[in-house]
Amino acid sequence: MNDSFWATARAQMLLDAAVANLNTGSFGPLPRPVFERVTVLRQRLAEEPMDFLLRGAPPLLWEARTRLAQFVGADPRRLVFTANVTAAINLVASSLSLEAPGEVLMTDHEYGAMQWAWERAAQRQGLTVRTFPLPAVPSEPGEVVAAAKAALTNTTRLLFFSHVLSPTGMILPARELCAAARKRGIPTVVDGAHAPAFVPLDLDSIGADFYSANCHKWLLAPTGSGFLHLGLGNEDALQPLQVSWGWNPDRARLDEPDEFGSTPRLRLLEFEGTRDPCPWLAVPAALDFQAALGWQAIRERIATLAGHTRRRLGGELGLTLATPMHPALHGAMTAFRLPAGPGHPRQRVASELRQRLWQEYRIEVPIIERPEGLLVRVSTHFFNTEEEVDRLCVALDRLVLR
Ligand SMILES: Cc1ncc(COP(=O)(O)O)c(C=O)c1O
Repeated sequence: MNDSFWATARAQMLLDAAVANLNTGSFGPLPRPVFERVTVLRQRLAEEPMDFLLRGAPPLLWEARTRLAQFVGADPRRLVFTANVTAAINLVASSLSLEAPGEVLMTDHEYGAMQWAWERAAQRQGLTVRTFPLPAVPSEPGEVVAAAKAALTNTTRLLFFSHVLSPTGMILPARELCAAARKRGIPTVVDGAHAPAFVPLDLDSIGADFYSANCHKWLLAPTGSGFLHLGLGNEDALQPLQVSWGWNPDRARLDEPDEFGSTPRLRLLEFEGTRDPCPWLAVPAALDFQAALGWQAIRERIATLAGHTRRRLGGELGLTLATPMHPALHGAMTAFRLPAGPGHPRQRVASELRQRLWQEYRIEVPIIERPEGLLVRVSTHFFNTEEEVDRLCVALDRLVLR
């Protein structure tokens, strides 16, 4: 695909033309057709809520569930819609019963809020949380699997890890990690916040006991669209956080599609009282949008932009790459270490830098604090341009390196 194809694709995005948005990793901006779809749905909800919620939304919800399930390689009857990954992980952490004493094991690169969710859950059950170090920049996936295997012990009650690491964008070998844990009888919970449309997904073959993800990052679906997938054999393991009308499901037809766009089993976990289901219902529009551009073309475009990012920030600016080069270990987020600022406490340097990148250059990019120093994490989705990466390069050269 040539530059004009991608310029036309970019024109379909609702982007502020003045901003270089290099941060889909935090929140995905919306394509116009997705925004229009969710807006039409919200208008119907606003105009006639009873008709919409009772009659209009259920078939759309089932359609959204089956389309998403097909995209992520899962069974729709085991796919619970959630507002986001935070809700999904809290649902699992707060109701999964684990044998105490023992530990919840996770990598040392997990998203902070999810680590807290596990710390609270562990404390309530008389368990501890232990992190294990990932190899800094592994040259192949086997190094990650070896580190995890070495960390599993007889007191490990659960393994939790991100499919794509938030600080560096490194992709973890999810299937191999789940298999290693399963071999020892240890359940797995995967935080796939970044994974849909970042990594080709086949959840049934990954084999996690619980896999959660967001559609409002790389899939470019409306904010408030996430899911939790129940691995085979875990269909009955959870209790809802909110008891509502899904409580006391009809046990004779637990997995049969119902009149609400779910199944009794899913509705038990999914229905939280009155809420706006439109972000979930617009997921098919998000799938259609990127499918029309072509998933393979998007992957190639992302690889080109990630390569450009490595050349400019790594090769030319001389920043140290923090994301592995192995094709199975990286995707659309590329992180680099930043040298420490002269005489400033690290935190102040990070917030000042964020602020200056935004105010002076209108660049949206996260500066991430890690124990080993600061990282800049560059997200490059298909709508980004080499010029935006070059703008970041100029800004970092002036703000950090001089
Ligand atoms: C790895 C990871 N987990 C969880 C989350 C939380 O996502 P949300 O706020 O949509 O629940 C994020 C958000 O960036 C993330 O990167």
